[in-house]
Amino acid sequence: MSLVQRGRFITFEGGEGTGKSTQARLLAERLSATGLSVVSTREPGGSPGAEAIRALALNGPADRWSPVSETLLMYAARADHLERLIRPALSEGSWVVCDRFYDSTRAYQGAGGGAPTKLINLLQAEIAGADRPDLTLMLDIEVEAGLARAVGRDALDRFESMDLGFHERLRDGFLAIARSEPERCVLLPADGL
Ligand code: TMP
Repeated sequence: MSLVQRGRFITFEGGEGTGKSTQARLLAERLSATGLSVVSTREPGGSPGAEAIRALALNGPADRWSPVSETLLMYAARADHLERLIRPALSEGSWVVCDRFYDSTRAYQGAGGGAPTKLINLLQAEIAGADRPDLTLMLDIEVEAGLARAVGRDALDRFESMDLGFHERLRDGFLAIARSEPERCVLLPADGL
């Protein structure tokens, strides 16, 4: 039996333009300053293979992939990320701060795109299994305000360029997850961040 205490797994979630990447970085810095070993990562991505899948998933026209194909890409990336980075880091006692994780698949591909919940739940159970976040900080902002921030930042990726209805559905998807799992999720208004 290992004497090393497993690290904690913290995720940041939210729609476009919530400022969650900045908040994830700030939290990782605060945790490191207390002496903890902290691994900062993101999804899709976080390992070389998953970063290659990220480029496939995010670039190109909005209709390049169907929501089902996107779900499979996200879980291919997630499997690699879990195997090569997240699980080893947690076992060594590091805390992992991840910018997006499986709630994004439920919100973007499921609530936003209409991919079947059954498919997402099946992949989640088989691929992530017991590796669930200990804490999820969910940043929420009005869709139009978030998109305005995202537009000002850089060229739009596939998801940012989807229509307003898609972004409204995914926001509702995140809010529903936060309501249904209050022991894991903390919902934070992001308009002042
Ligand atoms: P970000 O760097 O702005 O967070 O970009 C990642 C994009 O990928 C974002 O638009 C959300 C999308 N995404 C999904 O659609 N499904 C997923 O499972 C994940 C992790 C991200």
